[in-house]
Amino acid sequence: MPTKVTLIPGDGIGPSITEATVRILSAAGADLEYDEQVAGVAGVTRFGDPMPECTIDSIKRTGLALKGPLETPVGGGFRSVNVALRKTFDLYANVRPAVDIVPGGRYDDVDIVMIRENTEGLYVGIEHYIKIGDDHRAAAESIALITRAGSERIIRYAFEYAVKHGRKKVTLVHKANILKFSQGLFLDVGRMIAQEYAGRIEFEDKIVDAMAMNLVLHPERFDVIVTTNLFGDILSDQISGLVGGLGLAPGANIGASGAIFEAVHGTAPDIAGKNIANPGALVLASCLMLDHIGDHDRATQVRQAFTNTVRAGKTVTRDLGGTASTTEFTDAVIAAL
Ligand code: NAI
Repeated sequence: MPTKVTLIPGDGIGPSITEATVRILSAAGADLEYDEQVAGVAGVTRFGDPMPECTIDSIKRTGLALKGPLETPVGGGFRSVNVALRKTFDLYANVRPAVDIVPGGRYDDVDIVMIRENTEGLYVGIEHYIKIGDDHRAAAESIALITRAGSERIIRYAFEYAVKHGRKKVTLVHKANILKFSQGLFLDVGRMIAQEYAGRIEFEDKIVDAMAMNLVLHPERFDVIVTTNLFGDILSDQISGLVGGLGLAPGANIGASGAIFEAVHGTAPDIAGKNIANPGALVLASCLMLDHIGDHDRATQVRQAFTNTVRAGKTVTRDLGGTASTTEFTDAVIAAL
């Protein structure tokens, strides 16, 4: 029986990199049956809704989605569908592995897994304006909600991930020196859980600003990183920059009753419709999905074909220093399979 997957091509470069990914998966013989749905701007265009009911129903049925990037209007307009999907399906763990595969890059030996809390912190969307005098928008307040239960499950997830994948160290990133209550709670929970894994997994904590610098100076020193929502969002883009950019950074959003796999990058409006986007991040995300459903052999095969194509450097997209189109790059990966 094929595994059913909700397929959301997304906005901007989304449809083009999704098509590339599906072609590669099909060439690799992945036994998947797609239920194609829309969201984001495509959802607004088709149904007047950035998160249509039929898309939600499909993910409820399959418990699995492969998703292209979705546009979120800046400032006004609808709220992020990505954030809403993570909340709707309680996808509390955002897992973003970053491995050094581009030859001659700035760093060697980067192999970091960022595990970001995905449902709490500043992303809970509790914010309001404060009126002072006649000015209704004189100030604005956003609430960063950190719970003990939410911290426990993400930090435990990070330690369990480390054990399962033979990793050695978990680094907890925080700002507890300033945000003593919210970030302090996250750190306290981390220290408590770390004791359960003492002797098996090393534990350290780092303040986020120092971490940003350390990642640039010595990325090879880090293994599994766990942090709250906003810091994870920022640091995972930084980490993707260490290993060749956003075009190579996959992400998984995992919860108890579902999982959504996507690229870390967005819709890249500046290059949309030009057939020059790098499909790599979504291809690597689809490998995480194959791992998730237990098809490790095929995940390894696709990852290897992709890595070999990038390392050969002949048929790669512009962001990797080449001149190939999305289609040519995809054909090269299929040939390498
Ligand atoms: P972006 O990630 O779309 O683009 C940043 C830069 O990276 C651009 O120069 C772009 O051309 C380049 N880039 C991104 N992906 C690439 C690829 N596959 N190949 C080659 N170059 C690539 O970030 P930006 O511009 O801040 O966001 C654009 C839209 O995407 C916004 O509406 C934002 O809300 C949305 N977004 C959606 C995400 C998601 O669906 N998970 C994640 C991040 C942003």
